[in-house]
Amino acid sequence: MTAKKRFAAVASRRQIPPFVSKFVISLLVLFCFVVFFGLFSQFKLQSSSVSTEFGFDEFRLEDYRMKIAFLFLVRDNLPLDFLWHNFFKNADPENFTIYIHSKPGFVFDESVTRSAFFYNRQLKNSVEVGWGKPTMIEAEKLLFKAALEDTNNQIFILLSDSCVPLYNFSYIYRYIMSSPRSFVDSFIDDATEKRYNPEMSPDIPEDKWRKGSQWITLVRRHAEVVAYDHVVFPIFNKHCKRRPLLDLSKGNESLKEQQQHNCIPDEHYVPTLLEMRGIEGELLRRTLTYSLWNQSTETMNTLAWHPVTFGYTSASQKNIQAIKDIDRVYFKSENRTEWCGGPCYLFARKFSRGAAMRVLTNGLVGPYDPKTVFLDPT
Ligand SMILES: *[C@@H]1O[C@H](CO)[C@@H](O)[C@H](O)[C@H]1NC(C)=O
Ligand SMILES: *[C@@H]1O[C@H](CO)[C@@H](O)[C@H](O)[C@H]1NC(C)=O
Ligand SMILES: *[C@@H]1O[C@H](CO)[C@@H](O)[C@H](O)[C@H]1NC(C)=O
Ligand SMILES: *[C@@H]1O[C@H](CO)[C@@H](O)[C@H](O)[C@H]1NC(C)=O
Ligand SMILES: *[C@@H]1O[C@H](CO)[C@@H](O)[C@H](O)[C@H]1NC(C)=O
Repeated sequence: MTAKKRFAAVASRRQIPPFVSKFVISLLVLFCFVVFFGLFSQFKLQSSSVSTEFGFDEFRLEDYRMKIAFLFLVRDNLPLDFLWHNFFKNADPENFTIYIHSKPGFVFDESVTRSAFFYNRQLKNSVEVGWGKPTMIEAEKLLFKAALEDTNNQIFILLSDSCVPLYNFSYIYRYIMSSPRSFVDSFIDDATEKRYNPEMSPDIPEDKWRKGSQWITLVRRHAEVVAYDHVVFPIFNKHCKRRPLLDLSKGNESLKEQQQHNCIPDEHYVPTLLEMRGIEGELLRRTLTYSLWNQSTETMNTLAWHPVTFGYTSASQKNIQAIKDIDRVYFKSENRTEWCGGPCYLFARKFSRGAAMRVLTNGLVGPYDPKTVFLDPT
């Protein structure tokens, strides 16, 4: 309300016949108050309109830090803490936050990690996670929810206990902050996989069914969509289940059973949810986390369920460079090529401790000095 409007409102009230002098005095007091606050609010309006001349958005952005929330979804501890420690040591502590979802009751303290960055960063309300079960999504949602409580967190990166960064913090920070979009691997499921369960219809229409890597990077408004979804998640909980592993002794029967809507919730939930909410256009439809899938022809072998684990030998400089050199991703089911305009991948999995040690000693996340591997940042 401007001062003029307030003045008019008060003036019309003053036209009430002044029988009671006390009433008039209190009205005058009120009048003074209103004029004072009216002027004050106008002054504030003026000062903020001055700032808009220089770009209101820039003025506002200075009020809060753009933090990246690193969300670790782990079984129990963080086996690659020494690498992440050196990664975070080279960061500005004002630019990131860490959250960990581990098994219920697991506490990150001196007894499980030598890195102070992780002390007490575990969620207090964590759930027991069955790998490939809807509880995995529940854990993800809890991580997003916890990180959303800090309004400075603008970007949310989901990571596993075997993920490694391939660059230093400032490179990753600049890369991610330069995009207003989320990074969500999302593509039309290969029809032969039969993962869509028709019982989800009409709540989840088949044409909205998407598949993609679990390892996503979300901007704040998309993290809110995932954290606070109470509509799509219950349907996943009911109808999206992973089939038991192939039992060759059962012959064709086990094969048939396994192929029936063998639904892996964490590979479908986020891309399908975001597609249903009509925000696929706000995404860069690719993941920032590299995985090497076993191309073995024995596709039904249990090993083929998991990506290849890098060991010390396979984490050579040459192999890492080959990952960093990837600048496009091809999606066969859509005949679509995503050009990344630079490196596609900032993180990679799955890395053993030996492989992560090689990433560290090669100086990928910052200068390497064996004497200070676990020293606190100065
Ligand atoms: C981070 O890495 C980039 C490229 O890999 C490099 O140019 C830059 O100097 C590094 N920054 C720091 C602070 O180490
Ligand atoms: C920290 O964030 C500020 C802006 O919010 C940025 O200018 C700076 O480069 C960041 N530091 C690192 C190490 O990325
Ligand atoms: C199992 O599948 C093979 C071909 O894949 C077929 O030749 C065989 O008859 C099937 N056996 C049964 C019991 O269905
Ligand atoms: C891929 O899987 C096959 C068996 O399915 C295994 O023999 C091979 O070692 C695996 N390759 C890698 C690189 O892990
Ligand atoms: C895939 O798309 C390209 C053009 O982007 C086209 O030339 C090619 O024929 C397409 N391939 C298939 C299998 O549809």
